[in-house]
Amino acid sequence: MVYADHNGTSPLLPEIRDFLTKRLQTKLFANPNSIHSLGHQVQKRIELCREKMAEILGAHPAQIIFNSGSSEGISHVIHHCLLAAGKKKIVFVSAIEHAAVLNTLIFHQKNSGFDVRTIPVLKNGVVDLNWLETQLAKLSDQTALVTVIAANNETGVMQPYFEIQKICSELKVSFFSDTTQILGKEDFNFADSNLDFAILSGHKIGALPGIGALLVKDPTTLHPLIWGGGQEQNLRGGTQNYLGIETLCLALESFQAKKTKTRELKKAKLEFESGLKKKFPQVFIFGSEVDRLAGTSLIGYAGLHGQGLQIELESQDIFVTTSSACSDNEPSTSKVLKAMGTDDQLGRSVVRISLSIHQELSDYKKILNALTEAYRKVSKIEFNHAL
Ligand SMILES: Cc1ncc(COP(=O)(O)O)c(C=O)c1O
Repeated sequence: MVYADHNGTSPLLPEIRDFLTKRLQTKLFANPNSIHSLGHQVQKRIELCREKMAEILGAHPAQIIFNSGSSEGISHVIHHCLLAAGKKKIVFVSAIEHAAVLNTLIFHQKNSGFDVRTIPVLKNGVVDLNWLETQLAKLSDQTALVTVIAANNETGVMQPYFEIQKICSELKVSFFSDTTQILGKEDFNFADSNLDFAILSGHKIGALPGIGALLVKDPTTLHPLIWGGGQEQNLRGGTQNYLGIETLCLALESFQAKKTKTRELKKAKLEFESGLKKKFPQVFIFGSEVDRLAGTSLIGYAGLHGQGLQIELESQDIFVTTSSACSDNEPSTSKVLKAMGTDDQLGRSVVRISLSIHQELSDYKKILNALTEAYRKVSKIEFNHAL
């Protein structure tokens, strides 16, 4: 089997499975906020994880707030920024955000009258920085928030989030970048990024699902989203998911130990893509001319049906998706690809192949063979049908 949907979820790392097997045999199950010694021991483990993660991410331990994952981190940051916005009502959001950002903003638009404006993207999948700069030059004093994803989950295309942070800092405008696809997958240092916020999701990097973290430059000013019994410096209520936190820390440590493999993964991906293009010159690789996540390829073959290809690949034990996992049931071109000016013939044909540094690079060879077979089969069916 080849699992090639790491942007959707990255399966539990084998070393974390082994860790959990042993961890579940211990008696260390207690409320970390309880005053007895078991509670203290669990709390100590959480704080140790926080310290180790802060070291890897270039943050101070107090800047890390554990939560349930990126959707919560996104809701939290947007809630905080819009609450702090005063009379400012404009929100600039890129056309290629994850549904978690778009739906949170739609809620605030409907319920609090925010004026949500879309930042266009270029054909190559990168946000139009000139457009944003021009708008901010005119409207910065009315702008509550700018939000641009750090790397898009469908195309893998990296966005100029450092530059946008710099522009927004100069204009004193709040900026949020959804870093879900970057943290624990690509080199990242919170202090160097100068971002006010960053988010991390456990299931994207081989930890348990349902655990994540929000990084905040200045936690003393953050409004909570969930009120509880004072956990996480009063910033995120609810008994901490301490088992999840332990796995999150291990997954980050594992990435840190192996991160030089990112370069090898990227090289193997580019070889795979050029091998595919040699066999099928009509194949289109989205964002191929710009910087992308090391293990992500979004591939189109105009006229074919992406879901047909996905089913054919699955019959060969290769697991890919057609677009972002959340929009799998929509047989239409994704919003992200539409924003890049993609027509339906191409947009409906895409398959997303996303690999991680934790798997064998030879998997690309298996995918190339399987995709070759799938293209031959599906094009025979679809193009004959069209005739
Ligand atoms: C870019 C991006 N943002 C947010 C999310 C939501 O993450 P989570 O599943 O941790 O809530 C995802 C995952 O689907 C994602 O890829």
